[in-house]
Amino acid sequence: MVKKILGELHEFKLPSIITPICMIGEVIAEMIIPILMGRIVDLGINGADMGYIMRTGLMMIVVALFGLFAGLGGAYFGAKASTGLARNLRKKMFDNIQTFSFANIDKFSSSGLVTRLTTDVTNIQNSYQMILRMAMRAPASMVIALIMSFVINARLASIYLIAVIGLGCFIAFIMSKATKYFKAVFEKYDRLNESVQENVSAIRVVKAYVREDYEKAKFKTAALNIFEMFVKAEKVVTLNGPVMTATVYICILLISWFGAHMIVAEELTTGAMMSLLTYCMNILMSLMMLSMIFVMITMSQASAKRIAEVIDEETSIANPSNPVMEVKDGSIVFDNVSFSYSVDGTEPVLKDVNLDIKSGETIGIIGGTGSAKSSLVNLISRLYDVTKGSVSVGGIDVRKYDMEVLRNQVSVVLQKNVLFSGTVAENLRWGDRNATDEEIKRACHLACADEFIEKMPDGYDTYIEQGGTNVSGGQRQRLCIARALLKKPKILILDDSTSAVDTATDAKIRKAFAEEIPNTTKLIIAQRISSVQECDRIIVMDDGMINGFGTHDELLKNNDIYREVYESQVGSSGDADFDSK
Ligand SMILES: Nc1ncnc2c1ncn2[C@@H]1O[C@H](COP(=O)(O)OP(=O)(O)O)[C@@H](O)[C@H]1O
Ligand SMILES: [Mg+2]
Repeated sequence: MVKKILGELHEFKLPSIITPICMIGEVIAEMIIPILMGRIVDLGINGADMGYIMRTGLMMIVVALFGLFAGLGGAYFGAKASTGLARNLRKKMFDNIQTFSFANIDKFSSSGLVTRLTTDVTNIQNSYQMILRMAMRAPASMVIALIMSFVINARLASIYLIAVIGLGCFIAFIMSKATKYFKAVFEKYDRLNESVQENVSAIRVVKAYVREDYEKAKFKTAALNIFEMFVKAEKVVTLNGPVMTATVYICILLISWFGAHMIVAEELTTGAMMSLLTYCMNILMSLMMLSMIFVMITMSQASAKRIAEVIDEETSIANPSNPVMEVKDGSIVFDNVSFSYSVDGTEPVLKDVNLDIKSGETIGIIGGTGSAKSSLVNLISRLYDVTKGSVSVGGIDVRKYDMEVLRNQVSVVLQKNVLFSGTVAENLRWGDRNATDEEIKRACHLACADEFIEKMPDGYDTYIEQGGTNVSGGQRQRLCIARALLKKPKILILDDSTSAVDTATDAKIRKAFAEEIPNTTKLIIAQRISSVQECDRIIVMDDGMINGFGTHDELLKNNDIYREVYESQVGSSGDADFDSK
């Protein structure tokens, strides 16, 4: 996993190597200064040698400057390496997400992917920077300071060794307890993110249902949970502070006590004792740093795993080798098709579906919500793959086509359609990048979108807000139909795409389709019988199975569900005359 993450370093390998080198440079400077300091005291002050003090002082300035630049370099290259890693990780994830099939996206959920791309990558970035700068520096500083102390005076230095071992054990104990809490905190962050993302993206629904208080309470609980966990973790970690300070003072006391005796016995110089006391801080601070790095690593492990999952995810729908590059016609055949959303194949959503649709036919599909109408049509453009059986378009299994070729010929207006931020024309050109203005106008005319576009202040250059919030539901549906038409597909699928369009316009769109694109196979999923009754044939879906397939008249005669729906719709609205004209 670490290898996977660091594998994305690429051009940022060099700064990743320079950073620890700079940090070690800084440590060396830090280590030299106490020695020079000791010399000034011993040889300069005690020997009353002003010249020596000046020379050594100058050397100290040079060493300090060296340390300063090394530290600056470490900070600069560390930042460069870690932000670079974050950039590469995000790019790799984003590129892979673009290859995801609908099934892959179902697995992660869109908001989950957003969290992984943002928060998780930021976690990795922060801990990578910390590791680069501290993982070498802290042990190096500790070891060098220990060695120096031993060189100065082995007996006194053994006090440090004992302190390091004792404090080390204590910190390890504390951290093993704290990491448990930190891990829990990160799991809870997920829940908070979910709550925030769901609420913010659906804020209109929340307001419409006056659910603000409920949502607020939900958020408060999630936030409170994190707060409590953090407090628990920090409570444990704060123990470190006093223990650390106590150890430092005990060490200073012991060194001063034994040191003073030694100085009196002329076994130690005052300068050497001063150097020893400075190293004390260095050694114990480094130990502290090491423990922090340890926490950082455990905390970022979860993030690394979540990032690696996205990078490693393989699309469940890939292009075949030697793909077929041409769709012959718009005929569709379902051969004993079963389909299930879950991988293990339990609970099939579609069961043993057989269909034979000729090129150019207009097929209506009706059925209750959840009867698997959308699931059925999503198999045709291979948004999902069948679990059993096969779906063929133009006489060839859809799995044999080049995906782009297939999806250009099978144009779907999804039930959950969306527009993107950009002008009307830009949105429509998603259908065909090179469409001329005339082609765009024609598609809009067929979809009955031209009438409202031309009334907009800037016509086809009107700006559509993110998610298409500044057009009405019915207008958005008509724009999406026009966008699908621009592909000039052999098969056009409308998944409940005129539900928000008034019945008169709906009828106009269908009439235009029948007259202007007669050779395109059209599949129209609808709730209103009036939307499908003139179709060549109509499929009645019920609980994942085909309950009936025939013309309006045949179904009225033979199919109970169809007749019931027809009678209820004609009866309640009383607009059957209006619809049938
Ligand atoms: N992405 C999905 N993941 C899992 N189950 C799904 C998914 N989409 C739909 N389903 C399930 O499949 C069944 C059929 O749904 P769908 O095809 O959308 O029905 P319809 O379009 O007729 O309303 C439903 O029971 C629904 O819960
Ligand atoms: Mg549906």
